[in-house]
Amino acid sequence: MRKGFQLVTGSPLAQESVRNTDSQKAIAAGIDAKEIALARCAAAEGCVLLKNIGHTLPLLKEEEVAVFGRCQRDYFYVGYGSGGDVNPPYLISLMDGLDQCGASYDKKLAEIYRTFCENPKYAADPGWWGHWPMSHPEMPVTPEMVRGAAAPGKKALVVIGRAAGEDRENTLTQGSYYLTDEEIRLLDQVTSAFASVIVVLNIGNIMDMSWTAKYGDKISSILIAWQGGMESGNALCDVLYGTVNPCGRLSDTIANNYEDYNTAENFGGKEFNDYKEGIFVGYRYFASNAKDKILYPFGFGLSYTSFKTEVLAFEKPTSASVDKDTFIRVRVKVTNTGELPGKDVVLLWCRQAEGRLEKASFILAGFSKTKMLQPGETDEIDLETSIGYISSYDEEKSAFLLEEGIYSFFVNDDGIDEIKAGSWTVAAELITEQCEQAMTKEVDLKQRILDRMPQESTDPLLLSLSDKELEAMTRGHGMMNSVLGAKGNAGVFGGILESLREKGIRPIICADGPAGIRLSADCALLPCGTAQACSFNTQLIEDLYAQVGNEMAKNGVDVLLGPGMNIHRNPLCGRNFEYFSEDPLLSGKMGAAVVRGVQQSGRAACPKHFACNNQETHRNINDARVSERALREIYLRNFEICVREAAPKVIMTSYNKINGVWSHYNYDLVTTVLRGQWGFDGVVITDWWMKRSKSPEFPQLEDNAYRVRAQVDILMPGAITHVERNYVSDGSLLKTLGQKEGIKKAELFRTAESVLRLLKRLP
Ligand code: BGC
Repeated sequence: MRKGFQLVTGSPLAQESVRNTDSQKAIAAGIDAKEIALARCAAAEGCVLLKNIGHTLPLLKEEEVAVFGRCQRDYFYVGYGSGGDVNPPYLISLMDGLDQCGASYDKKLAEIYRTFCENPKYAADPGWWGHWPMSHPEMPVTPEMVRGAAAPGKKALVVIGRAAGEDRENTLTQGSYYLTDEEIRLLDQVTSAFASVIVVLNIGNIMDMSWTAKYGDKISSILIAWQGGMESGNALCDVLYGTVNPCGRLSDTIANNYEDYNTAENFGGKEFNDYKEGIFVGYRYFASNAKDKILYPFGFGLSYTSFKTEVLAFEKPTSASVDKDTFIRVRVKVTNTGELPGKDVVLLWCRQAEGRLEKASFILAGFSKTKMLQPGETDEIDLETSIGYISSYDEEKSAFLLEEGIYSFFVNDDGIDEIKAGSWTVAAELITEQCEQAMTKEVDLKQRILDRMPQESTDPLLLSLSDKELEAMTRGHGMMNSVLGAKGNAGVFGGILESLREKGIRPIICADGPAGIRLSADCALLPCGTAQACSFNTQLIEDLYAQVGNEMAKNGVDVLLGPGMNIHRNPLCGRNFEYFSEDPLLSGKMGAAVVRGVQQSGRAACPKHFACNNQETHRNINDARVSERALREIYLRNFEICVREAAPKVIMTSYNKINGVWSHYNYDLVTTVLRGQWGFDGVVITDWWMKRSKSPEFPQLEDNAYRVRAQVDILMPGAITHVERNYVSDGSLLKTLGQKEGIKKAELFRTAESVLRLLKRLP
């Protein structure tokens, strides 16, 4: 172990996790100290160490480090829009973090940056909705200044920050995806003056990293800190100084260049994007067809220690009678072979049999994180995957199936080498789940809908509701910040009329998510979704969101509008920071962890945006043209895992169309697949407002009637478009009631019943 270096182990809760003044502010806001500690721990475990030559990191607290880059103060704590707009009681920047942990840094240099950041002329621009800054213009440095800060053996740390968000796509410009000239000048100068340079990336999205090749080993360490929420600076220092040994892994592939992403040509369209890549998203494409274009692979991340992984057992299905829920299990032993305590992530990969259906080289089939391992200590962990998950969707047969052949499994040793875990031979094609064709033009949707009309209700409460009340049960109260809920709420549904409340139906209060609770009141700001996913620690995320559930209770919030679960199809999507990964399994498991956590206290989580909200540009016009197979295996798969494992009580549709049909009118998406196939029996809400439209199957049905027939229960926040200020019915739902093929009373009952069911499930 390096001299003078002390690694604090054990529970993060045992650490002194917050400075007194900060903890007092948080506690005054009703935030539990446990939540703060878990948020810090999640932010630290989400950090991904990409490079670390010659043990540059961890730093010693007594070694004076020179910190460059204005984001040392103007840190990006989260991305923009509904998913990040929390009011935290405090924010810990990198410099705050250094102060709090008592680390030594170049005070003179820090003062220059402080003066610059506080100068109104250069102060960071907060921007406004959809026009937030993607970065802040970097402070120009002179060679004298940089050289003046340098000294033999002294290390430099350069922070580079980026943010994007809702209605704020990343762009292929300097200051967004690319470095600015000023940032390049800064790196040029720092790398020529200092022998050891650490680059910290404070980002929510993957950004261009081709410049790392230019600097080569002049940059000794690269750490992606992501956007770590209000505890950012503390968590970052935990990793920089080794209180937490880096144990995050990339939840996305980092390619050499943007053009290397196969979705690049079909991203950002106004009317539509052709998902030409099919199932070959992220590493499924790179590992199969473009290995040479990978700069850092999915799942990559270094540690300050080393691990050895051994496979102890492989358990495959024994009988011929297997179904989608039959498991394949792998037991591995992980030993910490290095000198420092740390945690390891083990990934289980599956190579599916080649056959009629094109396959990726391998897919992630399972993952797990070890406990904290002391040097020399071992942990035995179980990884598992269901055979349903490793099946492929055959559009001809409308079924998930295993093609005949060998399914082999492997894990990674110390993150890199493959270790064979075992294989399973499927003797003849095996259907693991028969589905119904859905969301394609070939389906006779009208007949399907008519065949599945609901029965009339016999519930006395439902029968007591007037048409006006039934209509009100299908939409929110009106606009955001409803007077019926806590200040700053996103909207309210359920008991939105006095008469409904008199019948015992109370208002149900929603607040954004996912990175904390978005209200006027102070709430904890959590690490962004990508950081959470990179922790690969589902238990930690579940524990964190259990605290959020308690915080919701204190603030009178019933539904947290999160987790954000869309697939990172392309690195430019503005909301990738909110979402987890390019991989459906990791995204699904993380989503399930959030849902389980929030719902522990009886509150509701609301995974969103179902589905294919893969870009912000024209998000409410754009049509995702995507094959049924890619939908089933990638874009719905993550939601499916979350729904089946964690039973969210609410789910939110997306703004976009899928194969020509807006999600908020999409019967197949919401009724055939979500409710029919996956067994979801919660409430489906729209994303805020919806596009006006007519049902192609039942042309007399418009807007709300079209929506309710699809079983999208609630229009949020109530009015159809955000320019309307109408808190009353637009008339579209009831217009055809009683007419042939018009909206049926039974359909209104079905939606109202769904809301009543939710009320029973809430405290
Ligand atoms: C976003 C949702 C959010 C909602 C309410 C929408 O614009 O897309 O994610 O939950 O607003 O704030």
